[in-house]
Amino acid sequence: MYDVQGKVAVITGAASGFGKLLAQRLVAKGCRVVLGDINDKAGEALAQAINHEHPHHAMFQHCDVTQPSDIRLLFDQAVTAYGQADVMVNNAGIPGVGDFFDARSPAATMDAWNRVVDINLRAVLYGTQYAVHHWMERKRSGVVVNVSSASAFVLLPFSPVYAATKAAVQHFTSNCLPLSKKDIRVNAVAPFFSKTALVTNALEQDPALVPLVGSLPMVAPDLVVDAFMRCIEDEKLRGKTLSVLPRDGVQIYRPVYPKL
Ligand SMILES: NC(=O)c1ccc[n+]([C@@H]2O[C@H](COP(=O)([O-])OP(=O)(O)OC[C@H]3O[C@@H](n4cnc5c(N)ncnc54)[C@H](O)[C@@H]3O)[C@@H](O)[C@H]2O)c1
Repeated sequence: MYDVQGKVAVITGAASGFGKLLAQRLVAKGCRVVLGDINDKAGEALAQAINHEHPHHAMFQHCDVTQPSDIRLLFDQAVTAYGQADVMVNNAGIPGVGDFFDARSPAATMDAWNRVVDINLRAVLYGTQYAVHHWMERKRSGVVVNVSSASAFVLLPFSPVYAATKAAVQHFTSNCLPLSKKDIRVNAVAPFFSKTALVTNALEQDPALVPLVGSLPMVAPDLVVDAFMRCIEDEKLRGKTLSVLPRDGVQIYRPVYPKL
């Protein structure tokens, strides 16, 4: 079991939802956290609230994950402020609301769907690569948790670009398994719908989604955070994705690969 006590975790998209809950969970176990988000107000407030209860355990750094320099700065802040960076959580994500195939929809513009790809996929690839380079150069161990989604393996036709980014994150993570030889673990969490700001905002922005999503069972955000913690703490889970589903709870996702 990997002990998070005394470790330092870097979390993107940490001002709300899973990122915020994970930060609180890690700090309760004695881990220090470096919080990155574009929502400076909420991020600063979270760091302040954590430090009030657990002095010197959290800091906030503005980080727009579409900017590689912001990701570098966030990760480097952990080393500057706390002397080390042990865990990298690539969590920031956006839903990509609107009809990709309706030429009049704002979601159909190249800018709109590029943004979904940049935040949900490109930033995850870069965040993983930057952390891994850091640990390999120093011959240190490390843990990456990437955030995929159940839409990586369950169809989500009303948000095909989102689903494609999350499937790519899952598969990228599986292909990081050889890093475990260098004591670097890369895992992913793939939750079904969960009532965070991402879902409530998407339903507000696109009321057509309400009949499709509103009736679905959701998973509790705390159960999703259990899966994040398992990825960090369970050293046997190298390269694995943990799905978080309404009926089955947290399970290792087992993709079916053809025999060649
Ligand atoms: N809630 C769900 O149903 C669900 C299901 C599966 C996967 N996910 C994934 O979980 C992750 C966290 O989402 P959440 O549900 O906690 O939503 P959330 O909206 O509560 O949190 C996402 C955070 O990311 C931040 N963010 C957005 N764009 C950013 C950027 N460019 N740079 C840095 N930060 C940025 C937001 O400000 C927000 O604080 C996302 O990757 C999301 O795709 C969510």
